[in-house]
Amino acid sequence: MKSIVILISGRGSNMEAIVQRCAAEAWPARVAAVISNRADAAGLQFAQSHGIETAVAAHKAYASREDFDAALAEVIDAFAPDLVVLAGFMRILGPAFVRRFEGRMLNIHPSLLPAFPGLHTHQRAIEAGCKLAGATVHFVTPELDHGPIVLQSVVPLLADDDAAALAARVLATEHRIYPQAVRWFVEGLLRIERGVVRHVGGESQLLACLHGEGGTG
Ligand code: GAR
Repeated sequence: MKSIVILISGRGSNMEAIVQRCAAEAWPARVAAVISNRADAAGLQFAQSHGIETAVAAHKAYASREDFDAALAEVIDAFAPDLVVLAGFMRILGPAFVRRFEGRMLNIHPSLLPAFPGLHTHQRAIEAGCKLAGATVHFVTPELDHGPIVLQSVVPLLADDDAAALAARVLATEHRIYPQAVRWFVEGLLRIERGVVRHVGGESQLLACLHGEGGTG
């Protein structure tokens, strides 16, 4: 049974999707803890109401990024996770922290990486005139929103989209690809070769939703 720790900063809808699919599909894994850098993160209540341990490592309580990273790593290590899942965790993590969890830490970002890392992703995609948008699950490296890509989802960017409309369309696909990527990891189905992630069974690592909200086309 693999142990998963999920880090959030707010709403936690991706965390919810992972918790629910883990239970519904009886993965060989359990979510051991949900940790937030903000005590008011809404997602903590969902975790508690599902009997999952929660913890808060408040970044504001530490003088430096290194001190915060060290304290956070200690909180995480107490749960001895096989996998650390960043699910809307909005703090930049330093290289020492990333190295400590190298190869066992995933992130989701609401763009087709390597395009648009960082903040205001959807607005930047609209302003660039992109016709496609999407989300990316990737292994975490010290570079922000960067690393070997596990799964991507693709949705159309429509002419009258504002950032909120686009974010909602992308988020619906995040809730499909993030649980899938985590499941593949805990089932031992992912290999990284020369910086490229392969599913050992040859499953498609692309979810294309180009013909309507929930479609697979
Ligand atoms: C998600 O859209 C996620 O992709 C994004 O934050 C949102 C969190 O929502 N993450 C990033 O931008 C990371 N750079 P959630 O709390 O409801 O899962």
